[in-house]
Amino acid sequence: MLAIACLSQKGGVGKSTLARLIAQTYAAGGWQVKIADFNTKQKTSVDWAALRMSQNVEPEIPAEAFTEVARATKGDLDLIVFDGKPDSDTQTLRLAQSAELTIIPTGVSADDLVPQIRFAQELKKHGIDPRKILFVLNKTTDSTAATTDARNFIAGAGFRACITHIPNKTAFVNAHNSGRTLAETDFPSLNERSTALANEIVEALKEITE
Ligand SMILES: Nc1ncnc2c1ncn2[C@@H]1O[C@H](COP(=O)(O)OP(=O)(O)OP(=O)(O)O)[C@@H](O)[C@H]1O
Ligand SMILES: [Mg+2]
Repeated sequence: MLAIACLSQKGGVGKSTLARLIAQTYAAGGWQVKIADFNTKQKTSVDWAALRMSQNVEPEIPAEAFTEVARATKGDLDLIVFDGKPDSDTQTLRLAQSAELTIIPTGVSADDLVPQIRFAQELKKHGIDPRKILFVLNKTTDSTAATTDARNFIAGAGFRACITHIPNKTAFVNAHNSGRTLAETDFPSLNERSTALANEIVEALKEITE
């Protein structure tokens, strides 16, 4: 079983959002996928998966809440997607250690970038290979300069970021509110962009595992 972890020190940056996009991408490709929701106080992904099921959205994406990494990685799946809680505790580290790839979402402001880079450096200090860490710029604004600066900041710290960034759009919130993902909005151009991001993540996992 392969594992992708969506982790961050900061809350509300898009861990659950990306976990759902990643799970949907692989499930649509015929993989047996589950989201392991470690944010047990909120259970965002568990509730979202139930909503998705009630709305009959295909493919179905199971999600389950876990507190122990070992339990989440039991069973007969092709891929488990860890949806972390906003923290840099030992559980978060264990999730990164158990995953082939760690996705760190971040906004473009220094308020987001600085703690998220610090978090990635902490993972690195604890033995996580930086090549197994991939930043995703989420909730970007219409300022191209701000996005470029953020990407340069990440690269300058020695980490990789996806080329595709995801803008802050109400259409994404509406998709989540109906059990859908970033790639299943009512707007083809947004769906294309999200699919491009998902493809970058798929390629990154391939690179690591092949
Ligand atoms: N690109 C986007 N545009 C608009 N809204 C977004 C976007 N990405 C995420 N959101 C919304 O922002 C909120 C936070 O996102 P999400 O729940 O994925 O963050 P999180 O990192 O999992 O948060 P937490 O730390 O609380 O678990 C959600 O309401 C989500 O729908
Ligand atoms: Mg979350």
